[in-house]
Amino acid sequence: MNALIIAIDGPSASGKGTIARRLAAHFDFAHLDTGLLYRAVGLAVLKSGGDPSNTADATQAARALSPKSLNAEDPGLREDSTAQAASKVAAIPEVRRALLQFQKDFAAHPPGDKKGAVLDGRDIGTVIAPGAKVKIYITASKEARIQRRFKELQERGGNVTYAAVLRDMQARDARDAKRVVAPAKPAPDAVILDTTEMTAEESYAAALKIASEVLAAD
Ligand code: DC
Repeated sequence: MNALIIAIDGPSASGKGTIARRLAAHFDFAHLDTGLLYRAVGLAVLKSGGDPSNTADATQAARALSPKSLNAEDPGLREDSTAQAASKVAAIPEVRRALLQFQKDFAAHPPGDKKGAVLDGRDIGTVIAPGAKVKIYITASKEARIQRRFKELQERGGNVTYAAVLRDMQARDARDAKRVVAPAKPAPDAVILDTTEMTAEESYAAALKIASEVLAAD
């Protein structure tokens, strides 16, 4: 039987990560945060003193990555410097190629014998799982996303300014959307969910409704 796939795409601070995690728990599906793979590659390059925009440095790190043993709890993965490095390595075709099969396999054969998988990222509905049953592109206005990220970083106790969050998010959005391979964009058949005016709870409820309706219609 084919695995049921829920593809969740969208820009940073759109709320897609939380929504994906909660959908996976609700349906008892496996969950893969694909941004973590790019973050792990970016972090590895930074740690080794390399340049995340350098093809050789980034490709070497991507090929050396063991996605299965990735420790999602590593606080370094959540740093903003890591996010920037992730966005740089993610623009390199060889890096995307090195991470492709793991993601496709996860979607086709969800670990733990689960009957489905939720994957979240930028190119799930377009490249990783174009045949996904459910595709949702979660977005929000730039202002709303900057506010959310600013609040999140403040709550974590970081020394952060609104201007720095704005600058970093603009740089990352532009890089992710303009890259040549798998640019971040909604799949033509994705449902667009704009969460600008929604609370986190309302956003989740809206995504759950979309996914439940599509899966029930099967
Ligand atoms: O979702 P995130 O913020 O953890 O992602 C970090 C970076 O990784 C993001 O700026 C772009 C890249 N990325 C990607 O290119 N493709 C994905 N499927 C997921 C993330």
